[in-house]
Amino acid sequence: MKILIVGAGALGILFAGLMSRHGGDVVILTRRREAAETISSNGIIISDGKSSWRAWPGCTTDPRTASSAELCLVCVKSYDTEAVARMISPYLNESCLVTTVQNGLNNVERLAEVFGPERVIAGYTLQASTLTGLNSVYHAYDGETVLGLHPSTTTPVEKIKQVADELTSAGVKTKTVENVYPEALTKLIINSVINPLTAILGVRNGELQELQELSWIIDRLVEEGVEAASLLGARLKPEHVKRRVYEAIKATYENKSSMLQDIEKGRRTEIEFINGALARVLLTAGRPAPANTLLTQLVLAFERKGRRSW
Ligand SMILES: NC(=O)c1ccc[n+]([C@@H]2O[C@H](COP(=O)([O-])OP(=O)(O)OC[C@H]3O[C@@H](n4cnc5c(N)ncnc54)[C@H](OP(=O)(O)O)[C@@H]3O)[C@@H](O)[C@H]2O)c1
Repeated sequence: MKILIVGAGALGILFAGLMSRHGGDVVILTRRREAAETISSNGIIISDGKSSWRAWPGCTTDPRTASSAELCLVCVKSYDTEAVARMISPYLNESCLVTTVQNGLNNVERLAEVFGPERVIAGYTLQASTLTGLNSVYHAYDGETVLGLHPSTTTPVEKIKQVADELTSAGVKTKTVENVYPEALTKLIINSVINPLTAILGVRNGELQELQELSWIIDRLVEEGVEAASLLGARLKPEHVKRRVYEAIKATYENKSSMLQDIEKGRRTEIEFINGALARVLLTAGRPAPANTLLTQLVLAFERKGRRSW
């Protein structure tokens, strides 16, 4: 299967590395000529802190490359999803399946609008990686990727299974579930806790569980997230989601969240697509969303002013 990865960022480079390592036919589409040249001539380097290895996917800035892809993995931030979809859509073959495991609400819906619900595959990934250079990433966690049906997709189940098998045999361990929506929303709520709190406090994930003062805020975020999920059609149990939040904090103890890294680098965050999106779901239904609104506004203020050191 010819695989197109859109975005030469932390996740795109990791997936391209894992899949081309064993001979998979992978091309990365980037908008940076410098990245395309570096990856084409030096390959990509994946390091997990103990060892590192190199892989040789193709890399280009030419969207026409999309025309030969059989599977497209969208690996851009949520705020770029729609623009990227519209950019590659004229070139992408009608039979090419488009898969997203991005964080944030509404990526699937945006892709389904552009490509049609029968061509989009939704999911989430527990992989964790950080960009360390133009062509290198630190692979912090080798987690599972999960694909399945979503309210906005109608992709036949056998195609979803085929893609999961393809990813697994290419080196990205992937399973399928019948309905991926409840778990994807659970992951969104976990992100709505860990990302903004670590970004605002400037701490690694593990410190969240040591700061007792945060437990009240975490409870409110879980309650709001569960209510938003229910409005979106997924019934989640608050106690279960809360347990998952603390398990995720523990499992990623040493990690610096992507939102904290974005704030430190003065880059835009995905806050409007995580907490902002959950708040909008609640407010649109006439329900209050104080915790998500407050954290969204604080992170947006940090984005504008930058993190000051003192
Ligand atoms: N990293 C992880 O471990 C991880 C894990 C799970 C989920 N995710 C999710 O996966 C998504 C991607 O995350 P990430 O960490 O890989 O972000 P990232 O490091 O910021 O990478 C995103 C990449 O997309 C590129 N891009 C944006 N618009 C483009 C366009 N028009 N054409 C080509 N490339 C374009 C960006 O290019 P520029 O550099 O030019 O801006 C950037 O290199 C996010 O939704 C994130 O939440 C990430």
